Amino acid sequence: MTTTATRPQDRPRAAIKAKTLRTDRWWLSPLGVMLFLTVVGGYLTVRIFFPQNYFVEEYNYLTPVFSPCVSESCVPGSSHLGTWLPEFPVLLPLPLLVFPILLGFRATCYYYRKITYRSALLSPPACGVAEPAKRYKGETRFPFNIMNYHRYFLYLASLLLMLNTYDAALSFFPHGGGFGFGVGSLILVANVVLLWGYTLSCHACRHIAGGRLRHFSKHPVRYQLWTFVSRLNPKHGQFALWSLASVALTDLYILAVSAGWISDFRFIN
Ligand code: FES
Repeated sequence: MTTTATRPQDRPRAAIKAKTLRTDRWWLSPLGVMLFLTVVGGYLTVRIFFPQNYFVEEYNYLTPVFSPCVSESCVPGSSHLGTWLPEFPVLLPLPLLVFPILLGFRATCYYYRKITYRSALLSPPACGVAEPAKRYKGETRFPFNIMNYHRYFLYLASLLLMLNTYDAALSFFPHGGGFGFGVGSLILVANVVLLWGYTLSCHACRHIAGGRLRHFSKHPVRYQLWTFVSRLNPKHGQFALWSLASVALTDLYILAVSAGWISDFRFIN
């Protein structure tokens, strides 16, 4: 049994004066990730405070950043689920209910934890490089103990993703009826594919699929699900970054079409 005195976090660090003995460019990866998160995360954070041009009525394009739009402040036609919230004051962002869930889902994700600990908290910035903190405290205190609730954020984010999928499907039925699609519809579909890849490759999802089983042979369906999720799981980091970029780019495209900066190329009207 491990006693308190011998816990790894209580042992003194090795007495090496140099911060690292590594000679490669270990700082490149955390720096690149930090820049990526700053640009994409910054764009999305600013965007939620500018509730304009998030819906193209003619083509039924609703940006995932403002979906579902359920307040009376939403522009006509964008509320695919109806408006069951009153009008929001100007400074209150329309994705008020959704944004904390998505932020919580990403912030508690094992992959984002790894990259934010490395890139933002330098804890540690790379393997074999000393961190500024003198002691390891783990994720036992607020706000880090919220990480334990990742599974619940996964449940909520999956529900929202179903709505994003519904929005993408609606983009094939532009207002006025009939079937039709353009570049925007394909972008919306690509976005939900990446988001499903991110969600299904989640470590908690893998545990939900196949965890706590003693014999896979007695649970063939769960075994198939677990096998499928396990194939996606090694790509979770890539899905995490690509899906975040895709949400921002999808929003930017719909913003540009809605504002009249570009026109949507239609394959079938
Ligand atoms: S571990 Fe990344 S979303 Fe669950």
